[in-house]
Amino acid sequence: MQKILITGGTGFAGTHLLKALQKRDTEDEIHLTSLHEHQLPGVQVHALNLIDAAAVEKLIQDIQPDQIYHLASLAGVADSFKDPQTVINNNFQLTLNVLEAVRKFAPQAKILLISSAEIYKPNLEGRPIAEDGLLEPSNPYAASKAAQDLLASAYGQSFNLNIVRARPFNHIGPGQNKGFVVADFASQIAAIEKDDQIHEIKVGNLKAARDFTDVDDMMRAYILLMEKGARGEVYNIGRGQAIKIQAILDQLLALAHKKIDVIIDQERLRPIDIPTIVADNRKIAALGWQAEVPLEETLAHILEDWRDKMV
Ligand code: GDD
Repeated sequence: MQKILITGGTGFAGTHLLKALQKRDTEDEIHLTSLHEHQLPGVQVHALNLIDAAAVEKLIQDIQPDQIYHLASLAGVADSFKDPQTVINNNFQLTLNVLEAVRKFAPQAKILLISSAEIYKPNLEGRPIAEDGLLEPSNPYAASKAAQDLLASAYGQSFNLNIVRARPFNHIGPGQNKGFVVADFASQIAAIEKDDQIHEIKVGNLKAARDFTDVDDMMRAYILLMEKGARGEVYNIGRGQAIKIQAILDQLLALAHKKIDVIIDQERLRPIDIPTIVADNRKIAALGWQAEVPLEETLAHILEDWRDKMV
């Protein structure tokens, strides 16, 4: 029996991770943190803000977790240009609090720290980036994730903690909030289908290319890394294929029930946008992981989910 703690357990990734852990049918005791109270079957939900250091220490001391999936973070790149200070303070402080609490009260715990592909120096030829790529964040969100990643590296080495860092590339699925490209596109399409008055979808930069993985494939990778990831190591997680945002839009529009015009919305263009981000995923592939859900399936699933929400 393992005591498992998920920080940010009611967020987009956390919700899918919880489902995957519960499917395993083990005797594990699962705890999660959330900003708000929730009643969830088979789980202990702890409502707290992780930027409260004393509350985090008490939580870790009380639970004594064996495994911690540290997911909690503000995750939007676009939002981070609007309020950099909040994103950086929040992401840095809550990670420092978790690491400090583990150092003091649960130094035996294995931590999976969720970093990001955004922290790498971009490869301008669009080649896949491996784990030894240079770090060169280009937006406030990326800086906050680099800070988390480096804090985890320092705490692992300084205090002999068992930390594995995951660097996920883009992941998508039902339940993701607006503010991320596929949710933004699919939510608008579902709304346009229901409203005779609107025929236009607003989009940002369609020229960028990203490496998209279904969130459930991503959560399978997290669980694998918790089981088999080597202490102190870093693992990229991504399908390993770049797809242009234009192609994502085209696929979603092809699924739409009516003809939709595309409008470039200046508000959605970023001060800086990495042209291509694609994973060199050989390291996690060597542990037996690969993306399984086809992108078309994930996109259709997300659009259906937004249609259901419109009812
Ligand atoms: N959000 C958004 N909304 N993005 C748009 C839109 C739009 O209407 N139109 C075009 N884009 C473009 C963005 O400019 C970017 O090039 C691309 O679509 C993807 O944007 P996001 O979905 O916001 O994701 P991201 O690549 O910036 O960051 C995601 O991936 C990281 C890992 O690679 C996030 O999930 C991060 O949390 C994650 O760390």
